Amino acid sequence: MGSLPSPHDLSTTFNPMDLTELSTESRLVTDFITQYYQTLETRPVQPLVKPGFLTSQLPEDAPFYGESMEEILSDVNEKIVPGLTHWQSPNFHAYFPASSSNAGLMGELLCSGLSVIGFTWSSSPAATELENVVVDWMAKMLNLPPCFQFSGGGGGVLHSNTCEAVLCTLAAARDKTMERVGDDKINKLVVYCSDQTHFTIHKGAKLIGIRPKNIKSLTTRRENEYGLCPNDLRNAIEADMKAGLVPFYLCGTIGTTALGAVDPIKELGKVVREYDLWFHVDGAYAGSACICPEFQHYLDGIELADSISMNAHKWLLSNLDCCFMWLRSPKTLIQSLAAEGTFLKGGSEMMVDYKDWQISLSRRFRAIKMWVVIRRYGVSNLIEHIRSDVSMAARFEEMVRAASDRFEIVFPRKFSLVCFKLRSNKKMVNGRKFNDDEYEGVKPSRDSELTRELMEKVNSSGKAYLSGVQMGRIFFIRCVIGSSLTEERHVDNLWKIIQETARSIMP
Ligand SMILES: Cc1ncc(COP(=O)(O)O)c(C=O)c1O
Repeated sequence: MGSLPSPHDLSTTFNPMDLTELSTESRLVTDFITQYYQTLETRPVQPLVKPGFLTSQLPEDAPFYGESMEEILSDVNEKIVPGLTHWQSPNFHAYFPASSSNAGLMGELLCSGLSVIGFTWSSSPAATELENVVVDWMAKMLNLPPCFQFSGGGGGVLHSNTCEAVLCTLAAARDKTMERVGDDKINKLVVYCSDQTHFTIHKGAKLIGIRPKNIKSLTTRRENEYGLCPNDLRNAIEADMKAGLVPFYLCGTIGTTALGAVDPIKELGKVVREYDLWFHVDGAYAGSACICPEFQHYLDGIELADSISMNAHKWLLSNLDCCFMWLRSPKTLIQSLAAEGTFLKGGSEMMVDYKDWQISLSRRFRAIKMWVVIRRYGVSNLIEHIRSDVSMAARFEEMVRAASDRFEIVFPRKFSLVCFKLRSNKKMVNGRKFNDDEYEGVKPSRDSELTRELMEKVNSSGKAYLSGVQMGRIFFIRCVIGSSLTEERHVDNLWKIIQETARSIMP
């Protein structure tokens, strides 16, 4: 690599916004990205590199003189891309997707190119108003009740991620509760969630000063499809109140991370209204699916919630990052998060100052990206995208079910997430043969070992990338269909790879 002498005298001609350069270099970068996507399918999804592989290839000090874009892109291609996990590969089925699209990318370009900061209405009026419009559009797409829309007295905001959204609601709920019970009661406040809830709730609760032992993960059960049981919630609240604690917040989930399970929103909502808790619904992944009428029943009772969040960057083709959050009473959140400064007057009492709806002051113009994505594709194509992933996941699930001598679906598929494991067909463990009764006792851990081996072998082949979960004694594989490039042939090929690998483990 090495630094080139500067072609210019920097003191007189340095112009970081040379418009001829902008035009030529942006073409270079988009060409580079196009070529990256053209070759993506053939690349190992997970890189075959060792720790330190990149650091050892790069100079220790920053270049003193600027370098050409060609030179930089050449290093991206040769040094950086080989060390990437290719999240946009059609063979990426791990975690949840971070779905990208041409419109998402163009929206990001506009966001970054216009580079405005709408922390108050007057700091960029169109940025604020476009965000108002886009969050109301999406609320209507999800069929959220008017109470979550600006037009119905509620409203929404675009955060970077769910952690931020949850943290903001926790702070609002804490302050509202402490106003009622007194500031000295912070050590008594209790947060509820289930043992399937994403760790974001634990992180957020600790950040706002909740004692770790007062963050209660209620156990879910198979008979409730791993949804939080309303009676368990009621019993926990009653017991905690008797012990002098102050229940104040519940997080429910539509589409849990491990299994895609859904908490019963309406029934939980009735319990929280009785005890006056803040109810947040986390739809980080599966919230997006509710733009399809066939999934909207999962939102039944959502009018009983105080807030709901959904990551459009997971499943709505919106390139990282964009988390929608809607509130029934934005006022409560604003009271908690508002920070004044004389230079920060909003300019209009009637308009939203988004600095008071989030943690930071500065913010990205995410609304323009979402506006581009929704306009470019229309609601119909976004619905089509979700349905096509769900149908490919259903196809994959069927193939796994049909191979029941060797595989087992551990939880009926919800959305586009299939959870499965290997079923060892030989009743041999460590060279010892077990009879049926004895075998039941050792089977889960034996199956788990084999399932983990299967996943690791598939991943290290580079042909596909899956993730797994250890739940109690059972380890299972999660296969998510969600990459924008995945087609049926990739799913069929994935199943072939899994079967071949399984045969190599359990001939
Ligand atoms: C259900 C759920 N909630 C929250 C999160 C965290 O999301 P973020 O990274 O946007 O904070 C995830 C991440 O996958 C998730 O699956």
